Amino acid sequence: MAVPLTILTDPRDPAPRRTLALPPATSILKGAHAASIEITATCGGRGRCTSCRVKFVAGTVPPPTIMDEIQLGDDQVREGYRLSCQCVPGEAVTVQIAPPLEERAFQILGAGPGVVGMGNVTLDSGIRKQVVKVGLPREEHHQTSDLEQFAAALGVTPADVGLAVLQGLPGALRDDPAGVTVTTFAAAGGGERVLAVERGDTASMKFGLAVDIGTTSVVSVLIELESGEQLASVSSLNPQAVFGGDLMSRIAFAQFNPDNLKKLHTRIVGLLNQHIAEICRQSGVLAKWIYKVVVVGNTCMHHLLLGIDPSHVGLAPYAPVMRHALVLPARELFLKVAPEARVCLLPLVAGFVGADAVAVALATRIYESAEVRIAVDIGTNGEVLLGSRDRLWACSAPAGPALEGAQIRHGMRAALGAIDRVTVDDDVHVHTIGEADALGLCGSGLIDLLAGLLDASVIDWTGLIQVEGRAALPPKLSERVVMRGEERQVIILRPGEAGARAEIVLTQDDVRQVQLAKGAIASGVLMLQHVAGVPDARVAELMLAGGFGNYVSIASALRIGLIPPLPAERIRYVGNAAALGAQLCLVSETERQRAERVAARIEHVSLAAHPDFERIFVDAMNFPQPT
Ligand code: FES
Repeated sequence: MAVPLTILTDPRDPAPRRTLALPPATSILKGAHAASIEITATCGGRGRCTSCRVKFVAGTVPPPTIMDEIQLGDDQVREGYRLSCQCVPGEAVTVQIAPPLEERAFQILGAGPGVVGMGNVTLDSGIRKQVVKVGLPREEHHQTSDLEQFAAALGVTPADVGLAVLQGLPGALRDDPAGVTVTTFAAAGGGERVLAVERGDTASMKFGLAVDIGTTSVVSVLIELESGEQLASVSSLNPQAVFGGDLMSRIAFAQFNPDNLKKLHTRIVGLLNQHIAEICRQSGVLAKWIYKVVVVGNTCMHHLLLGIDPSHVGLAPYAPVMRHALVLPARELFLKVAPEARVCLLPLVAGFVGADAVAVALATRIYESAEVRIAVDIGTNGEVLLGSRDRLWACSAPAGPALEGAQIRHGMRAALGAIDRVTVDDDVHVHTIGEADALGLCGSGLIDLLAGLLDASVIDWTGLIQVEGRAALPPKLSERVVMRGEERQVIILRPGEAGARAEIVLTQDDVRQVQLAKGAIASGVLMLQHVAGVPDARVAELMLAGGFGNYVSIASALRIGLIPPLPAERIRYVGNAAALGAQLCLVSETERQRAERVAARIEHVSLAAHPDFERIFVDAMNFPQPT
């Protein structure tokens, strides 16, 4: 029999109190999602995070599950919090969705400087606008049509004119005797396609959109196609993350479930249309003047945007449904730009090495480099590229959401109040984003903290918090190292310190989560060096790309062994290289063609299938021992 479940959401919601009939043996999380009530499920409902926690306010509080105790800790369990994905109530209950840590003003890596500053980029977007005078049919005996007259005037075939253009043709051709402005797209090595016919002269209005769809954040950039100049950009969290913070959780949510696949698809299309509206509002550009959209993202994001079921990407042999580049009209994806605008998706390499990695290769020019270089795009679904003009390898290095603060007791995304910088000497000193009151630890703060605690011998090279050795530490630091029940902890902030309203701690399990994440990235780099036979001495440069990669301190990343021990002068940030690669392909068909050749050159290394991976991964989870 169904159980009455009342869910209290954010008081600012239009309906902050919803009661639903929860089918038997159904978790609160599943019931809420089925009723379109947003409860974030970063780990996809596997009991491995805290994002779905709810507080019982009425009815019997069920006994805590193992996962409740591990993830929530004694205090929250005592206060009546439970993980909603693990909780199947047997009687009527009322629960309050735990207000997510008040994450405001997310720190999302924007579009960066753009292509104009890059030099040696041919601006040939393929979009052409010209004013054309079309001789209209005059004589009855003259067997012709508007389309034939139009096509002849333009030098294209009738087949190059799509329905959306045809529908507006008769009016446009007759409205302004001075002519019409015709927009065409000439793909590199392909024919010419008519995208739009407009009254009057709008030839100078030629724009495009470059989009980087990340697992966690999405960045859209508006570019003027003649100059390559960036006019506006918008970035926001990927709304799909509610259904799973990392790729495997998101794939699991969509797996063999057409309704959930549709949910994920409409969420991303909806967000892109919001970005388009906002970008047009910011720039004053009309959406109908956006004629080309280049999209990059990992393979799963690519498939979800196209509404393609990614289920098999999540199952061995992790093969994508397609890999080649794709160009389709915007109307097929319901994108609110010119209906016939060309949406260009860059090619993919493998199941977990997508078009974003190809875009990084393009933007960093690693494919034409005389010396061996490495690019590491650190993120929830990280990728590593290693190579030069001779050979190019790539692998997936999924750090998971731990570096986004998920699965960390007091973790949070990089938002206002997040601890993003830490130094450790005789005590712990923190900096928060926006100098706001401290709310939790974000990825870059976590990396700094571990580097500092390693140097201060609060944790050893295996990651163990040294409770037994705390007497040897400076007094203030020693007081922060505690054993609570069975759990080893380091108190980062006590209530009141750095404006913290409640205590913020680092638990032993948090350290292990970060070791898993950094092990994934470090072993990805080590594996490619191993496969390519490239020792550190032959690595001319290591480039840090992506949201997280550009906020992490290079010194701390080196100290915890997230990246190989190269001299710091050989390591540099390259900003949002994936978004830059998308911009290159937007302003240049030459670059978009090059992306196809580069993608075909990339040799994918499947880590899990390699006999040496396990050994390298386990080693990579340890921290470097002080020299
Ligand atoms: S613990 Fe419930 S979604 Fe992660």
